Amino acid sequence: MPIQQWDPQTYARNARFVSDLGAGVFELLAPKPGERVLDLGCGDGALTEKLVAAGCRVIAIDSSAEQIGAARARGLDARRGRAETLPFKAEFDAVFSNAVLHWIPDAGAVIASVHRALKPGGRFVAEFGGAGCVQTVRLALIDAANRRGLDGAALDPWFFPTEDVYRALLEANGFTVQAMKLFPRPTPLPGDITDWLETFAQPFLGAVAEHDRAAFIQDVRAAVQPKLFDPVGGWTADYIRLRFAAERRG
Ligand code: BEZ
Repeated sequence: MPIQQWDPQTYARNARFVSDLGAGVFELLAPKPGERVLDLGCGDGALTEKLVAAGCRVIAIDSSAEQIGAARARGLDARRGRAETLPFKAEFDAVFSNAVLHWIPDAGAVIASVHRALKPGGRFVAEFGGAGCVQTVRLALIDAANRRGLDGAALDPWFFPTEDVYRALLEANGFTVQAMKLFPRPTPLPGDITDWLETFAQPFLGAVAEHDRAAFIQDVRAAVQPKLFDPVGGWTADYIRLRFAAERRG
């Protein structure tokens, strides 16, 4: 399957809202000075920096070498690694994650890996895309891919679970859920939906023949425009978030 890659400059231009909108989950974490915190999927480190400013001792992990470079340029302890295979054992008071977990299909492996990394009683606090997230865009992407003879559903990289599904996964992997909320968060975009597609929908774009890619993007844009574009307000993506706090049992 074509993969998603992150370019720190494109990310900063088209996706800064992702960390800017992380205040709610940051508040749910309520980081305390001196705590050891793992920032899982740190991206360019914008929120990691806030954890450090709150007095936490933070290690940041990301699978993207480019984003790790950007996070290190902020002076952060950022390391390349995968959420499913974290190399830590009972080391952290908290694992924090914003806008990452929907990119990893094996949610059970991630949760088990986070469980190992946490001290007993440690907390796992995260926010990511929940059931129905970017549904308008997702259906348009799948449809435009299908029309080209591709298997659109198979290209779809996102895992957007319901509350029930994610709660069951947490409980089955040794967590007690303390808070969980699925909520719509319509998200005004800083530019055109085409910028969002180029930044976030690479697994679809990479599967389309290069000579057809611009037409593919325009097809998706035209399909979603009636629902997501307003001549005064511009483009708004139909995000739905799942935010939770859970505690490692035993
Ligand atoms: C996000 O970063 O939150 C996101 C990315 C792709 C699809 C939906 C949400």
